[in-house]
Amino acid sequence: MSNIIKQWYQAKIFPKLMNKNLGQKEIIQERINLLAYAKGRILEIGIGTGNNLPYYPTSVKEITAIDTYIREINSDRIKVNLYPYECENMRFSDSSFDVVVCTFCLCSVSDLGRTLSEIKRVLKNGGLVLVLEHGKAQKRLFQFLQKIANPLFNCLACGCNVNRDYFKLMKESGFIMRESSIRRCHLQPSFAAGHLYRAVAVIQKE
Ligand SMILES: C[S@@+](CC[C@H](N)C(=O)[O-])C[C@H]1O[C@@H](n2cnc3c(N)ncnc32)[C@H](O)[C@@H]1O
Repeated sequence: MSNIIKQWYQAKIFPKLMNKNLGQKEIIQERINLLAYAKGRILEIGIGTGNNLPYYPTSVKEITAIDTYIREINSDRIKVNLYPYECENMRFSDSSFDVVVCTFCLCSVSDLGRTLSEIKRVLKNGGLVLVLEHGKAQKRLFQFLQKIANPLFNCLACGCNVNRDYFKLMKESGFIMRESSIRRCHLQPSFAAGHLYRAVAVIQKE
């Protein structure tokens, strides 16, 4: 794709497709359940257009957020302090947050290992990471189809990967999984994106 078409697609088309897919009732319910854990100093990574904002508990009045692509975010209830940082290099001090929220962002970071170690670094001891993602299928047939489809997704969905195994890497990075589940969902196209990872994980630092 030429750069101009790519920029136009990223600004005008992709957000509409993304918001429709990620705004389904089923996904909204998952957001509500997950965000119930959000309290204290909160960092949301890859905030996009702010799809989570209506679903934070009413006690949340302010969050910090990052995204490499700054879009307009409308929220009357929650103040959003937005920074144009990469997840791989957040430029916040160590141990500055109680909770890191990542919903449908880890699929498109270019370095997942580096992102997880940054999340660890910026979280306080005992801090939580809340994850909602589409990821690697559990059945072999779908894994095969995902492997074939991934390069196309990468190109059309702004660097999105459909076949990442988040829990394996999170455990290897030292996160303690307090709650975790993988289930089929209605994200489209379902064969590739319909495998939903949800986790509440805690970080223990020495
Ligand atoms: C699919 S959108 C998800 C938006 C929102 N979190 C949600 O749940 O609907 C992924 C977002 O992550 C951002 N993103 C991708 N890679 C990133 C990176 N390395 N650092 C920061 N933001 C990134 C993209 O710009 C995009 O806004």
